[in-house]
Amino acid sequence: MNSEAGIKPLLSALRGERQTPVPFWYMRQAGRYLPEYRKLRAEAGDFLNLCYSPNLAVEVSLQPLRRYDMDGVILFSDILVVPDALGIGLRYVEGEGPQLDALGWRDPLPVYSREKFLAHLSPVFETLKGINAGAPANVTVIGFAGAPWTVATYMIEGGSSRDFTKTKSWAFHDRQSFQSLIDLLIDSTSDYLAAQVDAGADIVQIFDSWAGVLPETALQRWSLAPILEIIRRVRQQYPGVPVIAFPRGAGVSYRDYAASADISAVSLDSTIPLSWAAENLQPHAVVQGNLDPLLLVRGGAPLLEEAERILAALSGGPFIFNLGHGIVPQTPPKHVAALSEFIRGWRV
Ligand code: CP3
Repeated sequence: MNSEAGIKPLLSALRGERQTPVPFWYMRQAGRYLPEYRKLRAEAGDFLNLCYSPNLAVEVSLQPLRRYDMDGVILFSDILVVPDALGIGLRYVEGEGPQLDALGWRDPLPVYSREKFLAHLSPVFETLKGINAGAPANVTVIGFAGAPWTVATYMIEGGSSRDFTKTKSWAFHDRQSFQSLIDLLIDSTSDYLAAQVDAGADIVQIFDSWAGVLPETALQRWSLAPILEIIRRVRQQYPGVPVIAFPRGAGVSYRDYAASADISAVSLDSTIPLSWAAENLQPHAVVQGNLDPLLLVRGGAPLLEEAERILAALSGGPFIFNLGHGIVPQTPPKHVAALSEFIRGWRV
């Protein structure tokens, strides 16, 4: 962790202090909407090669900071490097997204070797060291991982899915063996995040992008409980490290994540009503969010009007401005510049 932590506005917000101006960063702030990313990506050839080449990954992580004045820099990587490091075959097919060698209900689980797993991911830790050396002192370094539920869906479906039939069938038919898979992901993800903090991440975010497809009991069991167990284990090594949870689509169940004393902040998807969040979530946790990324494609007055509404509703408590999901590739970079200047200049 950075010893100059006190001067980082995003970190201060995560410790519960209201900040003026409001700190901000954007999910997927590095990526295909930036021409300088596309250039480096073409040179690297393969997306995974980019993730595992520290020099390139450091450069890609820092690219957005050269254009915009954000308060956070997120590690450039992907949530699926965890199954990759567990030995599940992974490739990214141009235009089709990730494809994995699907894990079947009755298949043996990979045997976890902490040493081999962390060795496979050592380029990620090198990347974090490089980001730490290259980022301005007031910028918070953000590590991340996928939550066990979301990573399990990719492992079982073999990629993205519409209805998660295979994953839910396994979880509902054979709770015990599904728990073994979740436990494997708890073990590996806890080690992975602790190693990221060791390599210089000031904070970490846990992405549960598909939390919203689970009914209540399953949400508690497969999304919330594993996230809490991971936080508990990371904090055994790094007490007090701030953790942001992003249970996308969780609706009113966001309240359960925010109410947990161990989750420092909840990242809101764009569907969460602002007044409800201010009343029900902000008294218990820092909130982050939640501009619809497609408004960033639209730009102009509709973009800034919505940004104003979000700032007005949530900046009364500890708040970090972000999007409700990642920046999409068709986003004009100048809209990101306009939004960033607007947030920076905004006062109550
Ligand atoms: O936010 C950042 O800038 C950090 C980098 C980051 C990436 N993926 C880079 C990436 C982060 C935090 C992620 C998280 C991630 N990856 C999630 C959780 C957040 C979410 O979006 O819900 C998920 C579900 C994934 C899995 C994944 N990776 C998918 C479904 C895809 C294909 C879809 C797409 O946008 O292409 C990826 C590929 C991926 N991850 C790219 C990037 C920049 C595009 C790769 C390319 O350059 O072609």
